[in-house]
Amino acid sequence: MRSLLFVPGDSEKKLERGFSSGADVVIVDLEDSVSADNKGHARGVAADFIASRRNETRAAIYVRVNDLSTGLTDDDLRAIVPMAPDGIMLPKSNSGADVQQLSTKLRVHEAENGLPDGAIGIIPIITETATGVLATGSYAGASARVSGLTWGAEDLSAAIGARATRDSSGRYTDVFRLARAMTVLGAAAADVAAIDTVFVNFRHAEALRAECLDAERDGFTAKMAIHPDQVAVINEAFTPSAEAIAHAEAVVVAFRTAGNPGVVGIDGQMYDRPHLRRAERLLTRAKAAGLGG
Ligand code: COA
Ligand code: MG
Repeated sequence: MRSLLFVPGDSEKKLERGFSSGADVVIVDLEDSVSADNKGHARGVAADFIASRRNETRAAIYVRVNDLSTGLTDDDLRAIVPMAPDGIMLPKSNSGADVQQLSTKLRVHEAENGLPDGAIGIIPIITETATGVLATGSYAGASARVSGLTWGAEDLSAAIGARATRDSSGRYTDVFRLARAMTVLGAAAADVAAIDTVFVNFRHAEALRAECLDAERDGFTAKMAIHPDQVAVINEAFTPSAEAIAHAEAVVVAFRTAGNPGVVGIDGQMYDRPHLRRAERLLTRAKAAGLGG
């Protein structure tokens, strides 16, 4: 999973385009990109589209439902779970307890629809509330359904009363950098993918590429998109390069041929266990992208 493209759930045209975008995951949105009076219509459009067209896309399908405080989540699940989506994105998650509450709901819907228990995954957005940012460690062990954690800046800015999320140079301000960092840590603690948030300036491919490279450097392995044009840039940035794969393979081979010691020297540089673990993680990602040995 490298790219996750949001598609408003009430737009058949965009759903069509999203399914053929090359995104690893399509997130069919029933939340913020759908107006309050269009929620019911969006559920119907989204469910019908997934049911009739899902075999035409290689993407995994997640559906972003309305958050647990809205009173809309159950209606969303009732409409969507029969279509057996790969997962649910939970916005404004306050802690691992919210994921557990969603998981309990999913168990009921899975049983009602003859789906195996645990078939549907969960990706929570963990920094859209102040409480959420302060509870990013609570996802470890919360539910086996969780396949990744992601973060959001806009709702958090509204929650805390910040007028902007970035400073005049375009850099996220402290609270948002904290939220971003806590997502990487929360994901590592929960042993799931860290997924970077959206970049909303969808005409600016170079700035998107730079943000992807920063994210990949910092431990994110995927990024969300809001426009199909962003997908190729994200996929490329989060696919390990041939050079990186070759280096990781050399590290793994060096440890193996040395009899798996604690530390080895390669080209005048020390490599110990964290380097080996990093190399193995990169090779796992390369394999998931269909590359490497
Ligand atoms: N998924 C699928 N198709 C999309 C798309 C998306 N996220 N964003 C744009 N497209 C389609 C457009 O419908 C348009 O199709 P067309 O050529 O058949 O008319 C084409 O891509 C080009 O779009 P463009 O004109 O560049 O942008 P726009 O002004 O139509 O749309 C947005 C801009 C922001 C409204 C649109 O990108 C969008 O809806 N993004 C998703 C928003 C969302 O889900 N937000 C919630 C998460 S933050
Ligand atoms: Mg939002």
